[in-house]
Amino acid sequence: MSVEELRREVAGIRWFHTIDLGDGVVTPGEDASPEKLRRIGLPRDLGGKTVLDVGAWDGFYSFEAERRGAERVVAIDPNAWRAPVGPGNPWSGQQGFNLARRVLGSGVEDVDIGLEELSPERIGTFDVVVFLGVLYHLPDPLPALERVAALADELLILETQVDLLWTRRPAMAYYPGGELLGDASNWWAPNPALVEALLRGHGFRTVERVHRESLPYRAVRSAYRRLRGQRYLVQQGRLVVHARR
Ligand SMILES: C[S@@+](CC[C@H](N)C(=O)[O-])C[C@H]1O[C@@H](n2cnc3c(N)ncnc32)[C@H](O)[C@@H]1O
Repeated sequence: MSVEELRREVAGIRWFHTIDLGDGVVTPGEDASPEKLRRIGLPRDLGGKTVLDVGAWDGFYSFEAERRGAERVVAIDPNAWRAPVGPGNPWSGQQGFNLARRVLGSGVEDVDIGLEELSPERIGTFDVVVFLGVLYHLPDPLPALERVAALADELLILETQVDLLWTRRPAMAYYPGGELLGDASNWWAPNPALVEALLRGHGFRTVERVHRESLPYRAVRSAYRRLRGQRYLVQQGRLVVHARR
């Protein structure tokens, strides 16, 4: 495919991830994926490892895991990929993932499986599982976390929205409507104490907080959002943990 053809194909897709496809073509994703990559602490060397990306969407983290030497990478995203493309859906289903995989010459495997169907029997277990930006979108997050955790043999990298940062007691905030950033697909945000307690309960020996936002950063962001007429509380933010067996 010529660079011009590639640019045309890329322009016909609504991207979530920002992926460098080479030849100066970078997908115009709304997500600052390379920046987020720095925060999640994906191991530099994944040589010989198997990796599962739960909620892979356009596949940025799957392709990155492969680039870092993973022997096998499996990507799933029932929510984004199964949604029929067309009226009522502004997104492009699996088209971004498929195009990026083709252009990158990637061997990442895509599997069509629902989160509620995940089990070691159905999909196997993996050295590393990445579960980024999905938990708070789930109406029923606790069983899903348990199912995803059961698939990680060594390391689970979990990135999530968090809330109730004032309290050290394990707790979770519920958003029945669009309370969190006006997005009705956001349902629940745990606090870090709950994330840690749940993961320990699922058999991880260590749960390390590898990224959390400082109070001054959160305070400035909250004030900035308020100036723009948005509501994002100081006690809300993002968290990345590495849970190890
Ligand atoms: C913010 S994106 C994160 C994508 C990617 N993991 C990342 O971190 O860049 C949210 C992801 O959650 C998935 N998702 C949203 N609601 C879901 C649901 N009810 N069940 C399963 N997955 C869901 C979406 O398909 C999407 O892949």
